[in-house]
Amino acid sequence: MAEFLEFFALNDDPFRITPDVDFFYMSPVHQEALSSIEYVIETGEGFAVIIGEPGTGKTITIRKFISKLPENVEYAYILFPNLSPEEMFRAILEDFGINIDDNVSKNRLFSKLKEFLLKKKEEGKKVFIVIDEAQNLPVETLEELRILSNLETDKEKLIQIILLGQPELERKLNLPELRQLKQRITVLYRLRNLNKDEMIDYINYRLAKAGNSTIRIDMGAYSTVYKYSNGNLRTINLIMERALMSAFVNNRHNITKEDVKSAVNSLGLEINQGFKPKHVVALFLLLALSVPAFYYFYKFLKNGRETNYQIHKKELIGIIKANKLNMRKHPSKDAEIVYVLKKGDVVKVLKENKEWFKVKYKNITGWINKNYMELVKR
Ligand SMILES: Nc1ncnc2c1ncn2[C@@H]1O[C@H](COP(=O)(O)OP(=O)(O)O)[C@@H](O)[C@H]1O
Ligand SMILES: [Mg+2]
Repeated sequence: MAEFLEFFALNDDPFRITPDVDFFYMSPVHQEALSSIEYVIETGEGFAVIIGEPGTGKTITIRKFISKLPENVEYAYILFPNLSPEEMFRAILEDFGINIDDNVSKNRLFSKLKEFLLKKKEEGKKVFIVIDEAQNLPVETLEELRILSNLETDKEKLIQIILLGQPELERKLNLPELRQLKQRITVLYRLRNLNKDEMIDYINYRLAKAGNSTIRIDMGAYSTVYKYSNGNLRTINLIMERALMSAFVNNRHNITKEDVKSAVNSLGLEINQGFKPKHVVALFLLLALSVPAFYYFYKFLKNGRETNYQIHKKELIGIIKANKLNMRKHPSKDAEIVYVLKKGDVVKVLKENKEWFKVKYKNITGWINKNYMELVKR
């Protein structure tokens, strides 16, 4: 690594994927996310929710927010929130440095937390909780958080809550059970991937932050990074780190499209936008094959399994036992009657389908119920 940094005259690894606040890039998107969080904490009202796919910068944005908090603000940060309400209260208390014995009830934990928050309020402190990867929160824990967020003195709320999560979180918040929580959401902000110009700016910003703003990157290289990352920040970092490595092993100080291609290959990335021609061909073949399959399946459903005597080359005849027997167009008692057979009529059996025979009498074909006919083998 040291050799690599020296080669590019860098002081630091520019594309680390750790959410390192020193490398925070204020894109318009992250700026807005930050403002949303600031707004909720300043007004002291309700929940702030930040939604984004993995790698869009949720965690680094909250770290940025936390890094410049004034003295009078305290917070708890919960990262693995697949927690029951009890476990959640305990985790929050522990993050505030309060350890509680095992086997303490949920109500007791809740009142401990309330006690702590009231004390902070007296000290003139603001308190908030961040829950990262909040899509993993069970519904009942989310509901308990809402109750917690309702705690107030006669003047103001005791705590604010910030939820960070993947799009699944937003779907969860739309559940009818969480209607009341949804009403308490003051801001909901969706982080998006960077566009291409923002991406170029971001890459240059990170290189400059790491100590070198003179590394040249070809336009084709940028385009390829964009094509494969779709503007996702974590993916941009992964690709750029390997692209630099590729230039380094080739003893070059500029980054080419080939460097990016080899980075993308070594990461096993594929373009996830739209269809490639081979996908279209595969889809077409699948459709072409499924049409006959559906046709036969449909026929099977409609007609049931038929035994075809003619195909089997068996000659079967039958003698009608009933005084009168309806011959029908289809093997169903509701089907149209095509002829009425009499006792003693001799018919040729063509097909069998459950309790029905398809028969031929003179030149008429139709279906009759098996039970009214006696089979005679020839
Ligand atoms: N605004 C940003 N400025 C600088 N780097 C960022 C930014 N957003 C994301 N990154 C980079 O992408 C990585 C993934 O971001 P992270 O906050 O962990 O995403 P998420 O929490 O949404 O999965 C970060 O570690 C960081 O390296
Ligand atoms: Mg994260």
